[in-house]
Amino acid sequence: MKVKPIAADRLHALLRAMPKAELHMHIEGSLEPELIFALAARNRMDFPYPDVDALRRAYVFDNLQSFLDIYHAGTQVLRTEQDFYDMARAYLVRAHADNVLHAEIFFDTQTHTGHGTDAGVVIRGLHRACVDAAAEFGMSASLILCFLRHLNEQAAFECLEQAMPYREKLVGIGLASSELGHPPEKFARVFARCRELGFRLVAHAGEEGPPAYIWSALDVLKVERIDHGVQAMNDPALMQRLVQDRIPLTVCPLSNLKLCVFPTLAQHNLGRLLDAGIVATVNSDDPAYFGGYINENFAQTFAALGLSAQQAWQLAHNSFEASFIDSGLRRRYQDRLQYTFETFS
Ligand code: ADE
Ligand code: ZN
Repeated sequence: MKVKPIAADRLHALLRAMPKAELHMHIEGSLEPELIFALAARNRMDFPYPDVDALRRAYVFDNLQSFLDIYHAGTQVLRTEQDFYDMARAYLVRAHADNVLHAEIFFDTQTHTGHGTDAGVVIRGLHRACVDAAAEFGMSASLILCFLRHLNEQAAFECLEQAMPYREKLVGIGLASSELGHPPEKFARVFARCRELGFRLVAHAGEEGPPAYIWSALDVLKVERIDHGVQAMNDPALMQRLVQDRIPLTVCPLSNLKLCVFPTLAQHNLGRLLDAGIVATVNSDDPAYFGGYINENFAQTFAALGLSAQQAWQLAHNSFEASFIDSGLRRRYQDRLQYTFETFS
């Protein structure tokens, strides 16, 4: 679709109003400090920060690992099916307010089984929230189980085994947590098994790690999308491959800023990825920790990079193209996107 240029204030209203899909967010990263303290109280647990403000003040990170350490502390308060439901419910309400029509939600069970919570408790709670959001808001949401890459292959196989009774509640499998030193090929066999089982496959690669990790996510794990992938820009042959095969990148600008992947948003490469013809999308990653949900990511990134209404349309269109919804629903969502742009003035 050819989009006419519009004034900056109208562009910001359009970014908020446009229908979009969110494909890269970790549900445990949507736990706001207020909910962390409420769940700690409900579960009669101590939490190692005195209050919400002290916890928020600790959200200063210099890399992925420094974030993951605090993020894992937050997950301690999640114990019951209702806790997982309430966390997912809060995110889905928030995403609906940002005109997210469809969300693909990352979660892991290994963190929670490590705390003595059954994988079924996690999956049932999250799934019920997705079903309720469909019924109440008409939005679609599906679940992607991520293996934790700092743990070993055997642990990933056990995780898969524990999730199999809930197979129908999951659309795909992903790979998250500490990237450096944990290349995708560490999980070659378990991803091959997931592929045989019919799961859709994605992996974090090229967030902090080198382009080689993106190559092996594609060629060894055979994933269909790359989460982050911003380091691809350093490898022209890889860029060509991503463009030719229309491999989407789920980019998370505020996450990249907070984890020091780019020193400022003005130096982010989202605009250059789009100019190169990459199927890039905008996502929030861990919105409670990185200063904003999806619309805040759009607003700040467009302001910093001076992106256009045409690029806004492209990013939203890409988000539906890159999603794992069926072709009928994709067409309906893309028609709504087109209608929004045609009637926006
Ligand atoms: N888990 C939660 N957020 C993550 C990120 N940005 N990278 C890798 N694993 C994560
Ligand atoms: Zn992520």
